[in-house]
Amino acid sequence: MTFVSRRTLLKSAAVLGAYGAGLAVMPRLSQALAATDPIEIEALTGDVPLDGKQVTRGVMRYALGGQTSTDPSPPILRARRGEPFRARLINRLDEPTTIHWHGIRLPNDQDGVPFVTQPYVYTGDRFDYGFSPPDAGTFWYHPHCNTLTQMGRGLAGVLVVEDDRDPVFDGEVALNLRDFRLGGDSQFIEQFKPRDAAKTGTFGTLRTANWQVEPRYDVPAGGLVRVRILAADVTRIYNLKLAGAEAQIIAIDGHPVSERMPLDMAVVSPGQRLDLAVRVADSEGVEMVLEDVRPSTAKVVARFRAIGSSLKRNLGDLGPLSENAGVDADLSNATQIPLLLSATAESAARDSICGTLGYSFWAINKVPYPGDTPDPTAPIAELKLGQTYLLNVENVTPHAHPIHLHGMNFKAISSNKREVQPLVSDTYLVLPDEKVQLALVADNPGDWVFHCHIIEHQKTGMTGYFRVT
Ligand code: C2O
Ligand code: CU
Repeated sequence: MTFVSRRTLLKSAAVLGAYGAGLAVMPRLSQALAATDPIEIEALTGDVPLDGKQVTRGVMRYALGGQTSTDPSPPILRARRGEPFRARLINRLDEPTTIHWHGIRLPNDQDGVPFVTQPYVYTGDRFDYGFSPPDAGTFWYHPHCNTLTQMGRGLAGVLVVEDDRDPVFDGEVALNLRDFRLGGDSQFIEQFKPRDAAKTGTFGTLRTANWQVEPRYDVPAGGLVRVRILAADVTRIYNLKLAGAEAQIIAIDGHPVSERMPLDMAVVSPGQRLDLAVRVADSEGVEMVLEDVRPSTAKVVARFRAIGSSLKRNLGDLGPLSENAGVDADLSNATQIPLLLSATAESAARDSICGTLGYSFWAINKVPYPGDTPDPTAPIAELKLGQTYLLNVENVTPHAHPIHLHGMNFKAISSNKREVQPLVSDTYLVLPDEKVQLALVADNPGDWVFHCHIIEHQKTGMTGYFRVT
């Protein structure tokens, strides 16, 4: 007989819930996990049959300590709003790494940026992260070291922050969207091409959701299913559409939308999340298809299949998600900060063991970030704690940049290109020639990185940081 400790049991409950297949109604994990030891997250290298044909060598993955899972994709982590979340990173890669908790407002020294907020976590070392997430919703975690390689080879997973007041769904599926760059022999090829890094970024060759090609999930017929979508790819911007079911957008970048909108087509760029409430078709066996309609021929992202007899639920009956704090900006007293996103003259970046790509193509306010070095450049700006700022972001390049701020949320105020919704977010896709004003309250002390989430852009200069004191 196998002995399963209570702790292991609790951990496996958390993990099993994470693997979206089947009629998985997420287990409510209660406080038990938070009160125990940290979750152990191992970063490892291994062989995984990503394309379903041959194993790809040198895949980087996260695995929960003590777990033997048949699913190689990064586990979905679960935390609860306002309760302590503790995770121990154990580095079993051949190179340093860290974990950044994207979108979480946390203490600066837990933010996971080498040389800015913490030292490297070297091979064989561990680092304990801990924070109490103040916002509920769909967030994520990924390394911030040699990021193009480490994320490109797989390291990036969904972090769900739960709140008991959220409405109960009949099922939940989390989709971690990403491409891998493989050659014909299913092995990794050069992660980027310099001439693409200087444009849109280099695209992968194998599209996946949860590391599977066009996976299909069974969902209860006539039920309401929460679909949490994460764009974890290093380059790709998606235009998502769901055929065969009624779907509403209920949250963007983790934060509930003030008015739910039907999902006609939603743009989701690297770093962003989209939460959908899907009303599954009534008849058993009916398939619903999530597609990316950005490429000229639509690509299937994932499928859902109705199972069982109809639960006859109604989207209109779905209660509101629990609120997150807004951005309480005092616009009449805001200090303006110009932020010019531009290309820069090509020059070699400084060497760094945290993964320089060897080029500078991009800049913020004309300064190309030199890479993660023990001596980063000066902050873009120094912000006063509690003060409101208006970031006047101007994209003078012909490419879109999903710009991301660590540690604090902002809200879009105006744009010269489109009507903006006053959504609270951590990532905004700045279109070519767009000028957008993002309001933020500098409410979290520390050095907070601000960068494009197309990782080649981030790593070839489009990075900086704000210092809040
Ligand atoms: Cu998800 Cu610094 O980023
Ligand atoms: Cu960019």
